[in-house]
Amino acid sequence: MNNPQLNKNRKLQHLLTTEGLPAPILLKILDTAESFVGVTERDIKKVPLLRGKAIFNLFFEPSTRTRTTFEIAAKRLSADIVNLNIASSSQSKGETMLDTVNNLSAMHADMFIVRHSQSGAAHLIARHVRPEIHVINAGDGRHAHPTQALLDMFTIRRYKCDFHNLRVAIVGDILHSRVARSQIHALTTLGVPEVRVISPKTLLPSKVMHLGVHVYHNMEEGLKGVDVVLMLRLQNERMLSARLPSAEEYFKYYGLTQEKLALAKHDAIVMHPGPMNRGIEIESAVADGMQSVILPQVTYGIAVRMAVMTILAGN
Ligand code: CP
Repeated sequence: MNNPQLNKNRKLQHLLTTEGLPAPILLKILDTAESFVGVTERDIKKVPLLRGKAIFNLFFEPSTRTRTTFEIAAKRLSADIVNLNIASSSQSKGETMLDTVNNLSAMHADMFIVRHSQSGAAHLIARHVRPEIHVINAGDGRHAHPTQALLDMFTIRRYKCDFHNLRVAIVGDILHSRVARSQIHALTTLGVPEVRVISPKTLLPSKVMHLGVHVYHNMEEGLKGVDVVLMLRLQNERMLSARLPSAEEYFKYYGLTQEKLALAKHDAIVMHPGPMNRGIEIESAVADGMQSVILPQVTYGIAVRMAVMTILAGN
């Protein structure tokens, strides 16, 4: 099957989605990231692998973790990274996204990192740019967030070692979540035998079963015996109409509390991509508790993004 992310040698040309990416490519990213964890823990956290490369952060939508960790990752690889301030760019004068990209390409860009509220924005740019330029999707609409899923896979592997004997639960607003889609594709490709989604009916895509997941509407049932709990944010900015009675009601049935977490395995880990809504998706005692690996996810995000950029630049 033709995959727009792969070049004619079946190597990664762009990273747009985890859907359809073969396991060896996912594993190569995770293994390469392992080698960068040591770099990020050194006193001098720099390697010259991308020296002289020009990387542009194009964030058309807000971000704390993704934008910053891409910037840190690029700097640790010795690349020149430019954060385009979209609000004060010529977009505000009516310039199209592709004209902006054309102008930055004329400045000898080597890589674009793109976040956009519209699904497909990064694909559009990838189809448009010259073949020597690489595009990374940093989150597009409700479609995909591949580097988030990859850093999640990296974190799971660090704590659980092997994907092949895990039960993983993804909890919350699956319908609007690009993170959930990317996680499901990555988990199933990497061989996780049981991926559960736990969500109210109003926050589930109608064809979710086709993704090979087990659906639960009761959180207590869904959490029983799981090794990993992946919490999601309520994506209020993408809801076209009210899908829940209230935040309090949501927390009562789908918020992760210590009581509900006790139903998972005793050594289960708790993850959240951020930003977190405390008291809506997760209570603070869990978010800050012993089983939470939410901040290690952020730290590992640097090594994973270093790996993705290095692999793309080498192809
Ligand atoms: N996880 C995530 O995408 O966070 P940001 O929106 O802060 O980048």
